[in-house]
Amino acid sequence: MSQKLQPAKSKFSTDLKAARSESAHVLELIGKKTLDAEEREELISTAVQYWSDHVNAGFLQYRKSVSTDYTAVEWDDGGSVFRDVNGKEFIDMLGGFGIYNVGHRHPKVLSAVQRQLERQAIHSQELIDPLRTYLAHLVSLITPGELQYSFFTNSGTESVEACLKMSMLATGRHHFLGTIGAFHGKSLGALGGTSKAVFREPFLPLLHWSHLPFGDADALKTMMASFDFSGDRVAAVVIEPIQGEGGINMAPPGYLAAARELCDKYGAMLVFDEVQSGMGRTGKMFACEYDGITPDLMALGKGFGGGVMPIGACVGTEKTWAKYIENPFLHTTTFGGNPVCCAAAIATINVLLEEDLPAAAAEKGEYLLPRLNSLAGSYSKVMVGARGRGLMIGMEFVNNDLGYDVARNLFARNILISGTYINSRVLRVEPPLVISRQQLDRFLSALEESIKQVYQERAL
Ligand SMILES: Cc1ncc(COP(=O)(O)O)c(C=O)c1O
Repeated sequence: MSQKLQPAKSKFSTDLKAARSESAHVLELIGKKTLDAEEREELISTAVQYWSDHVNAGFLQYRKSVSTDYTAVEWDDGGSVFRDVNGKEFIDMLGGFGIYNVGHRHPKVLSAVQRQLERQAIHSQELIDPLRTYLAHLVSLITPGELQYSFFTNSGTESVEACLKMSMLATGRHHFLGTIGAFHGKSLGALGGTSKAVFREPFLPLLHWSHLPFGDADALKTMMASFDFSGDRVAAVVIEPIQGEGGINMAPPGYLAAARELCDKYGAMLVFDEVQSGMGRTGKMFACEYDGITPDLMALGKGFGGGVMPIGACVGTEKTWAKYIENPFLHTTTFGGNPVCCAAAIATINVLLEEDLPAAAAEKGEYLLPRLNSLAGSYSKVMVGARGRGLMIGMEFVNNDLGYDVARNLFARNILISGTYINSRVLRVEPPLVISRQQLDRFLSALEESIKQVYQERAL
């Protein structure tokens, strides 16, 4: 692949004339709803070539791993499906790793963004931008407990980053406790909390983090007592109520309550990372509601922008914000909370509530989960089982290769699904919450066919 894509070096020198004509050409493409055969062919070969030359040739192998012929170049989407440039339609069981909670391009989110764009795209940075204030108020209305303030970001990792800084400000400490299997992003602060060596090792030393077994309240108790005794006190305990990239692992009953109690006892902040589990995905607006435990800080991202705009949030209580209010320049961002992204998030909250999508997620999850487990029972040489809440479900396979085979076979049946980052034996089921019963049934039958195909291919 990479040999075929080797470009001539001279292509990379400055050429403003070429940049001008190519940008005009791409603008024409963007303006088109459909492409003719020649344009499609050109688009596919150019996108693959440029990905290799100018994005990352190494990533091509992984990123497009289930579409091994490289012809699936995405072009448009809507509801629970997306189409490639040739018009082939896929059911999206991956949901952009949990972005498309309200579906792809929900009309209400699109319309809010378009109307806002027609008036003002980015704020002046100096005046009071109204949508930020409405969104912050709405967030305080939908989040549990005393969460009151929002700092808006452009991504999940930035939301976690802000939670870490607020914890440091609130406690004057800098030691964080995370969990094994956690994923909090890859910017240098959040990366400390992400638990897998392969992502962290090249960048050590990071902030001061220790990782404990997820769900083990006794381990947390011992560590917090020990750090308190030694004076190396904990600024925050950072937990995903349901670990996403770790393989869809649910906090066992009582774990979040124990974490809350220990944080209160030792003066640490409790941070819930709901970047993936939030915004209705698990059958409640936020996964922590299952336990009735509220954090001091919450990180949001992914589905918060309705799958249309990138926006996240660090949401905090009064005590986490006090020092930041004294000096609001301690944490700033140029684009975070811009009006277009706020419009998308406001529309997303409205859609989640008006269409009662958290309840829809709960009901669809209850439909899927037993059926997935029954498939695991029938095909136990390939599939171990399924777990999760609402439409945040993990299907565990006997090993990585078998899971990958199933994902590849599903893709051949026009269904997109993918593994989790830290535990590749687990394929995640995170479709848009608006997915229909018919689409779920199509997924279930394609899954059974795909597993049967693996049995045949591997003579199991
Ligand atoms: C729980 C959690 N936190 C943080 C992040 C990082 O979000 P982003 O990729 O938008 O930076 C992710 C991304 O998968 C996530 O799942």
